[in-house]
Amino acid sequence: MSAINLSTKKHDKKMANTTKTVRNLSLELIVASDYEKMSQLATKKIFKEIKLNPKLLISLATGSTPTRAYDLLAEKSKKEPKIFNKVRMIGLDEWGGVPNNDPCTCLEYIMEHLTGPMNIPTKRFTSWDSDPQDPAKEVERVTKALEKEGDIDVCILGMGVNGHLGFNEPTDSLKLKPHIAELTDTTKKHTMAQEAEHEIKYGLTLGMGEIMRSKKVILLVNGAHKVEPFKIFLSQKISAQFPASILWLHPNVTVFCDEDAVPEMPIKI
Ligand code: GLP
Repeated sequence: MSAINLSTKKHDKKMANTTKTVRNLSLELIVASDYEKMSQLATKKIFKEIKLNPKLLISLATGSTPTRAYDLLAEKSKKEPKIFNKVRMIGLDEWGGVPNNDPCTCLEYIMEHLTGPMNIPTKRFTSWDSDPQDPAKEVERVTKALEKEGDIDVCILGMGVNGHLGFNEPTDSLKLKPHIAELTDTTKKHTMAQEAEHEIKYGLTLGMGEIMRSKKVILLVNGAHKVEPFKIFLSQKISAQFPASILWLHPNVTVFCDEDAVPEMPIKI
């Protein structure tokens, strides 16, 4: 293990348009020059996985991080629709207690960026009902649906500024299975939540078990607002208080980030 300076921000202008890849046993870290490049690289990887396994089950994070990668994937599906005609999708999480068509919901986001433009029928997309009569029953329904679909093949994740994955929030004891999540104040300030037209009461999310059983994980991290959380992630200190750190225990993780998110310090990986 050696110390590597991942940042090219100030000292290596020649690197500006290239990528740096660092690999340890189970995690590959790809630093792209900017958000566009990061999204292109992530899309390429997802596309390659779909080509290898057309029936791939992909779980979908939402938020600002994966948007461009999803849009690029949707563009690819327009050019090569056949490649996508068996792919399956499942929502990673959902804001709870708001109508399904509230602008904040993950469902609206996924329909706009992926399942809509890609023409994915509902039978190939497991989504959460954001406003179930009985949230516990909704958790049960998604749990059963996932049991039927099998383990996730590719789990696409973003990292919350507090280190959350989906709505697996910082805690003393993480939950393995899909569950109703109590949202932290930080998460309640998320840009999606700011768009809500109704009061968000809770979160619905797959658990750490579903994430860790996924065959491959793709974690996307971009933007200067992620420097501090990314520094914590890169420190490799594994803690339930920073759920993304658990990914260091997963056997197959690819992290795509952009330069803006990279801390300006040597990183040991
Ligand atoms: C939100 C979403 C997650 C997302 C995360 C990061 O809570 N529900 O699925 O991965 O926060 O969001 P962003 O990419 O906007 O930073």
